[in-house]
This record gives sequence, C-alpha cells and structure tokens, in this order.
Amino acid sequence: MTITVPSTPYPDQKPGTSGLRKKVRVFQQPNYAENFIQSVFDAIEDKDGATLVIGGDGRFLNREVIQVAIRIAAANGFGRVVVGRGGILSTPAASNMIRIRRALGGLVLSASHNPGGPDEDFGIKYNIANGGPAPEKVTEAIHARTLTIDRWLTVEADDVDLDTDGETMLAGMTVEVVDPVTDYAELMRKLFDFDAIRAAGLSMAFDAMSAVTGPYATEILERQLGFAAGTVRNGTPLPDFGGHHPDPNLVHAHELYKTMMAADAPDFGAASDGDGDRNLIIGRNIFITPSDSLAMLAANAHLAPGYRGGLKGIARSMPTSAAADRVAAALGIPSFETPTGWKFFGNLLDAGLATICGEESAGTGSDHVREKDGLWAVLLWLNILAVRGQSVEAIAREHWATYGRNYYARHDYEGVESDRADALMTELRSKLGNLPGRRFGDLTVEAADDFAYEDPTDGSVSRNQGIRVLFVGGSRVVFRLSGTGTSGATLRVYLERYEATAIDGDATAMLADIAAAADAIAGIVRHTGRERPDVVT
Ligand code: G6P
Ligand code: ZN
Repeated sequence: MTITVPSTPYPDQKPGTSGLRKKVRVFQQPNYAENFIQSVFDAIEDKDGATLVIGGDGRFLNREVIQVAIRIAAANGFGRVVVGRGGILSTPAASNMIRIRRALGGLVLSASHNPGGPDEDFGIKYNIANGGPAPEKVTEAIHARTLTIDRWLTVEADDVDLDTDGETMLAGMTVEVVDPVTDYAELMRKLFDFDAIRAAGLSMAFDAMSAVTGPYATEILERQLGFAAGTVRNGTPLPDFGGHHPDPNLVHAHELYKTMMAADAPDFGAASDGDGDRNLIIGRNIFITPSDSLAMLAANAHLAPGYRGGLKGIARSMPTSAAADRVAAALGIPSFETPTGWKFFGNLLDAGLATICGEESAGTGSDHVREKDGLWAVLLWLNILAVRGQSVEAIAREHWATYGRNYYARHDYEGVESDRADALMTELRSKLGNLPGRRFGDLTVEAADDFAYEDPTDGSVSRNQGIRVLFVGGSRVVFRLSGTGTSGATLRVYLERYEATAIDGDATAMLADIAAAADAIAGIVRHTGRERPDVVT
C-alpha cells in the first residue's frame, strides 16, 4: 500500500554541475533526501513498470539513502530496481547498467571527488535512459518541483538485503542486487586488447583512493590483466575514504606522484576518484595533464580494438586546453567546445557527432557509456603503451613534436566568500568589451567573451559558462566559478600557452606571464585577498 507523507519544500535543492551535492548533515534533515528523490520521480514520465538503476560510491549515508530510494521507487510505480551489491556502483558502471538494462534512468549517489563522512559531502544525481546525467531541461524541472513539493510517496517494507545477489519482491516491485563489476569488466574486454596488455609485461601503480574503483581495478588489473598483487593501492572503498579527498590530482594523490618520480618507478601510474569517473595519468617521471591525455588518447585510440574504425569527432569542455582540437584537425574530424559538465557531451555522443570527450577536471571517456570513465582511460593508455612499446614520456614527446604543446595549469582559490567571488566575476564581465587589443607584457588580447554554447543537436543555449580571454597566438586564460563546491565559492583560473616548437619548457615557467596577466585582468589578489592559489593542478 502506498503511503503519502506530507512535506514542505527546501529552498536549496537546485542541482549543480553534477546533481545535488550538500553536506551529509543537510541531507540528514527530515524529508530532505525524500523530497529530492520524489521531485525527480515527479519530473519524469513513463515510470510505470520501468526499471531504475541505483548505486553509489559507498560514502557515508549511501546505504541509508538507497533503502529510502527503493521504497520511494516502489511507491512511484517502478517495476524493477537494479542495485549494485553493497550499494556500490561506480558512476561509469551505473551508466553502463542503465544502458544494458534498458532502464528509464538511474540514481547515482555520490559527491564524486569531495570528501565523505558524517561531516563531509553527499550527493544524488539522476541519469536518464542513455546512461548520462540528466540534461538541464530535466534538472530544471526537478528543481522547479522541489520548490512546490508537498508530499512524498513510500511503501511499508523492510530494508532490502543489499549484500546478497539475487531478486526479491518489495511491495510489488522486483529488487535485483547484482555484482557491480561483472558487466563493466565485460564491456572493457570488448573495447581493449587484454591479451596484448597482458603480454606487454608492464608494471604499474594504481591508487583507488579508498573509493569505489577499488573492486573494479582489483578485478580488471590484477585478476584479468595479471598485474602484480599490490598494484592496486587503497583498494577497499571506505565510507570516509580514509579521511582523504578522493580527488586524483597531484595534491591529493601525492603518494602516487612520489612513486612515479622515484628512480625505481613502474612504467605507468594512475588514480581514480570517489565515484570512479575521473582519472590521473602519470608516466615514469612525467605527469600528463588531463587536457594532454585527452589529445594523446584521441590521437592513438585507433590502436585499441573498440576504436579501430576511427573517431567521429572529439569534444572537450571550454576550459580544457585546445590540444585535442589539433588532433581533430589533423584527423579531419570535427571538434566541439562545450560548457563544463559531462552532461553537455551526451547529445553529441547520442547523435554520433563525437566518439571521445574530455575535460581538464580529469575526466575522459567515450561513447561506450554516457559518463566519464576513469578506468577506461587507464585501460586505453595501457592498450596504447602495449601496442606502441614506448614509454609514456616517449609518446608524450612525440605527440608534442607533431602537434605543438599546450602548456596548461589550473589555479584554484578555494573557500572564497561568495560575495567577493561574485564581485570579481561581475567586474570582469563589465570589462570584457575593453580588453581586445590591450597588452599584458608580451601578450595581446585578441578576444574576450562570456562563453555561451548552442547545442548543435537541439539548439538549446547555455549562457554565462565562464570568461575567456584569448591572446594572439593561441594562448589564453579562463575564469570560472566552480559549480561543485558545497561551501563558499571556488574561483578557477585556467592558464594555457601554446608553443608550436618550444616543447621542452617547464610548465610553471612557461605560464608565469599568463598568470601575471590573469591577475592584472581580474584583480584576483585584490578581490580574494589571496596572494596565491590554494591548489595548482
Ligand atoms: C564534475 C562534473 C564534470 C565537471 C566538473 C567541474 O566533476 O562531472 O563534468 O568538469 O564537475 O567541476 P567544477 O568544480 O569546476 O564546476
Ligand atoms: Zn567523480
């Protein structure tokens, strides 16, 4: 029997770049998670008898919210819920599950790379039938519903045993608990030449950061590909990620970085984030920026069985460096520049306009699912290394020699007061018209704008997606406020310098002029009161 629970709206349930992310304590308020989940179901159609996938990254509150969501799904008429054992599904595995089960959609419970635990972050994201994050049209409808909601629906039923595979009935709905890894590993075996990788005898270190990729990496890398036991570090998902930030960058994956810079470093190093969609790639003695990784993967993808037929196009988010555009131009295929957020790639992938996509925020993926995919990037790199028989460094140097090098860095100013961050952006917007032609040291501004994107498949327009200042010669600086934080504002400043032949420079030194120009243009120190960024990646 359906139970109707009266409720009142919360004013702060607007989904951000990647779903609703808040502190755990916010989610623990009465009716908070319930209101949001019910708003999702109220905003979508065709639920009757449909399949819903549910899984998360195992962080604090994961199991509790899954139990609540299962009951709300039953009350809303779903016919089947497919849930990963232990409540675990990495974001790319959830995307794959939605697709292969022909589900109406899925609830992905994660706050990605944000820390977990009772005082940290939680999140709920809805993905649609193509396996990708709901587009803005859908998230706007969900948000609108959260502002008027007056009840949520549930059923009276016991908690589901999430730790035993198999089917049970819950108030007329089937609940199926599945192994979270099997289907995903099968997809990877189709895309990549596991025999070639095994035969290459490479050594590697993979840091799962006590997050969701642990079981996936252990199965695929150690069991199926034969990498030595211990290749996967921090391989057990923990509700608080061991107290760390599960964010695979040089700051939070510092141990891996040290391993890869040591004299006895393995051939290849990689890490993934809380929910398994991000990746960090480090060769022996060389860090590959996510922007470069996208370009290098695209240039070599044809070496893996899944991409032997070539690529249809390459898409990158606006702040991601233009390195991938140069590969697309050389291949004679289109390149796309989208706003930040994986959801903008979905239409391009569905329409067959792009095959590979990537973002500076350590996300890379392809049309095999509709999310970015950390282990996919790792396996494509391994496949390329195995076929080419060269080191990461040799491949990177050859790449830069062919295409030129886009030196790149991102400077983050975290926990800035929202008013001050907004003031910086507002002042910057008001100055855009005066920037073209102005000189900052050796740099001359060619153009400056507030990035807007028109989706080529449905004509929808997204405005105010970040300030671009383009310099003559292909260098640039981009200013943007993060859309994923849960307290204060984070200012991101993306620095990029293109050099056609000077490819051996030190990135920090090569970007010093651009960093100085960025401060002169935006008054970063003046507005934020910070002398230097908190994080440089
Ligand atoms: C999430 C999304 C990515 C996006 C990133 C941007 O990870 O899944 O697609 O690039 O957020 O984060 P930001 O904090 O810069 O808004
Ligand atoms: Zn993530």
